[in-house]
Amino acid sequence: MKHRDIVDEMTLEEKAAFLSGANEWQSREIKRLHIPAIACSDGPHGIRRQAGAGDHLGLNESLPATCFPTAATVANSWDEELGNEIGEALGEEAASQEVDVLLGPGLNMKRSPLCGRNFEYFSEDPYLGGKMAAAYIRGIQSRGIYACPKHFAVNSQELRRMAMNSVLDERTLREIYLTGFEIAVKEGKAKAIMSSYNEVNGTYANENRHLLQDILRKDWGFDGIVITDWGASNDHVKGVEAGSNLEMPVPGFDSAREILKAVEKKQLTMEELDLCVDELLDAVLDLTSKREERKKKKISQSFSESEHHRLAKKAAIKSAVLLKNEEHILPLKKKTKVALIGDFAMEPRYQGAGSSVVNATFVETMDKIIVNYDLQVVGISRGYRRDGKEDSSLEKVTLELAKNADVVLYCFGLDELSESEGLDRTHMRIPQNQVALLEALARVNENIVGIISAGSAIEMPWQRSCKAILHGYLYGQAGASAMMELLMGNENPSGRLSESYPFKYEDTPAYRYFPATERNSEYREAQYIGYRYYDSSKVRVQYPFGFGLSYTEFSYSDLKISKNGVKVIIQNTGKYDGEEVVQLYVGLPDAVVFRPEKELKGFKKVFIKAGERKEIEIPFDDKTFRYWNVKTDRWEIESGNYQIMIGASVSDIRLSGNLAVEGTTEQYPYDPEKMPHYYTGIVQNIEEQEFEELLGYPVPSGKWTGELGLNDAICQMYYAKSGLARFIYCRLTAMKQKSEAAGKPDLNILFIYNMPFRALAKMTGGMVSMQMAEGMVTVVNGHFWKGMKRIIGGFFRNRKANKEYMKLLSK
Ligand code: BGC
Repeated sequence: MKHRDIVDEMTLEEKAAFLSGANEWQSREIKRLHIPAIACSDGPHGIRRQAGAGDHLGLNESLPATCFPTAATVANSWDEELGNEIGEALGEEAASQEVDVLLGPGLNMKRSPLCGRNFEYFSEDPYLGGKMAAAYIRGIQSRGIYACPKHFAVNSQELRRMAMNSVLDERTLREIYLTGFEIAVKEGKAKAIMSSYNEVNGTYANENRHLLQDILRKDWGFDGIVITDWGASNDHVKGVEAGSNLEMPVPGFDSAREILKAVEKKQLTMEELDLCVDELLDAVLDLTSKREERKKKKISQSFSESEHHRLAKKAAIKSAVLLKNEEHILPLKKKTKVALIGDFAMEPRYQGAGSSVVNATFVETMDKIIVNYDLQVVGISRGYRRDGKEDSSLEKVTLELAKNADVVLYCFGLDELSESEGLDRTHMRIPQNQVALLEALARVNENIVGIISAGSAIEMPWQRSCKAILHGYLYGQAGASAMMELLMGNENPSGRLSESYPFKYEDTPAYRYFPATERNSEYREAQYIGYRYYDSSKVRVQYPFGFGLSYTEFSYSDLKISKNGVKVIIQNTGKYDGEEVVQLYVGLPDAVVFRPEKELKGFKKVFIKAGERKEIEIPFDDKTFRYWNVKTDRWEIESGNYQIMIGASVSDIRLSGNLAVEGTTEQYPYDPEKMPHYYTGIVQNIEEQEFEELLGYPVPSGKWTGELGLNDAICQMYYAKSGLARFIYCRLTAMKQKSEAAGKPDLNILFIYNMPFRALAKMTGGMVSMQMAEGMVTVVNGHFWKGMKRIIGGFFRNRKANKEYMKLLSK
């Protein structure tokens, strides 16, 4: 213990209260001992510091801050240096707004393109995601702020996110869903981590000793604090036992009283409690001294808005992916007659909805920016309606405009409702009215340059209508000028996709398993996520992982493989200076232990002037050959002749060679005859028996039967016994549908809809106790009077107990 002296001075009540939040964003201060509060704030791509009313859904306004491109966007840059720079800027802005812990970056794996928060996450590949996250974390923490990578772990679905159970085998957990976090912790040295809402194999992430103790603290040597996601604490005592330090946001004193009871009953030992308090105390004191130091050194209390805006622009430039460029229509020639079309040109989609929403300092728009470039703009039109409705008169004017232009710049993509915290998409299409307009435009003008805004993979059956496609993702506040620089050729596109673009949703590996319909989300596709699936099972995709065009070309030669890594010569053979992303993939043909055909094990982004060549070195590391062996319960290496591949994307391997590697064990975990599909990678239809073979135990039942419990979501009230509960469910559903029809997600409704009853006690600042929440469940289950008695009795008991606790703390 680092602060024995202070911990010993704390009363039991102070210790218990210290471990949960005082309000929406702050930890509790203990005045008597001069222990201050620390302040948390979202988020991953900009600071969302709320000065007024706090909420965790991005509803109320926050202080102005730079809105950088979202994680899904910056991941396409494959540029760790850039991630580091963004992290530094985030750290500076956090410091200037007196934020101590920044709730990001988000690095859940993109198991399905439909997850509503994919725009906040880096990649479908844990290595790329982990490296980018580590870079952000290093940058943020270099400014004396703690980064808090989230959501730990296996939180790849928004539907009923607080009440679902991710069921997966240990190997998939380690190799796919945890490796990114491992890199974030070991290489980024994250000082905080956020436990996710869901259960992992039947235990809430926040109470999961396997995750929080065995893996996070013991295996990875994490020495920071675990903070719950907002409302992710189920049983605070179990959380503390597992080593979760701070329950957020505001459970009042109910959670603290649970701790007191548990200590009294010897369910929780004083050592366990003290350890948890000591870790949090260490963070609080460290962050406070960092704050003091900043004050003493007079490190600026403000940040340069213009400098950070420039960085946001640079990030958007380096992250945009040129997907198509027929007849070298791009870069645009000077003085080209262009028509700028699309609602997104006036009201850009530059970030997603939810807790990550940033109140940007300044948002550029294409319609205003375009005049700064040497083009002849023949006109600008919204083209389509944002609400998805057809508008024939608008279409008519737009087509007339397109006829008069040499090139149409068409800005389109996913609408607001598609990308939000709290909901998953139901398909991968963009709104039909945008597609209809594109096709109509293509009939009157064959030179269409599509500029897409979308934070996640989409289907592109319409891509033939575009001669060029520049994918800006969710490009942040300076995205408009970033797109213009690229279109004009002042900058050369260098982004490469950090996720695969399948032809259609039905092609995706988790298509039959996502999202969980009842309680369990079964990860039957195992490690065949994203390109690991398409590549292994030979499913063709629209655009593969790692893909992106440039205005120049690169040749690859002279691959040298040694036991420490690879060296390769890259030459820029075109006319433009540019950056290439050199990707290292490793595979083991005829492996005894099944594995994807190839996996990303290293990468380097490199700038090369036209005509020049450079030698690139990519070292191997501890992850290059390892796999998790469920028999020996540790990382092992299979011996064999590994294929070492260097590519410009997963489907464009330019050079390859072999390396014989010695193995670490002959104890192999699987019986290939019992798991044929895992050996072929054709995993879309795994039967229960084969999944159980992989899991090593029977698939737990996820069926909803019997009465509703504290952990069931409010939206499950549709089969409640109480007529009143069913009525409330119908009202909520109607409100949700209304907001969907209006084209804007209502985050409040979505949150309530997916929230379990227990969260009522965890997020209401002490108004509702767990006993009252239990009473509500009793009412829902049809025992009206019994439930009301508990609610009313609980209300008075809770009020009295809160007052007493408050008195004890203020002594
Ligand atoms: C989100 C977190 C976020 C927190 C605080 C939760 O709803 O899942 O990512 O950091 O709210 O806003």
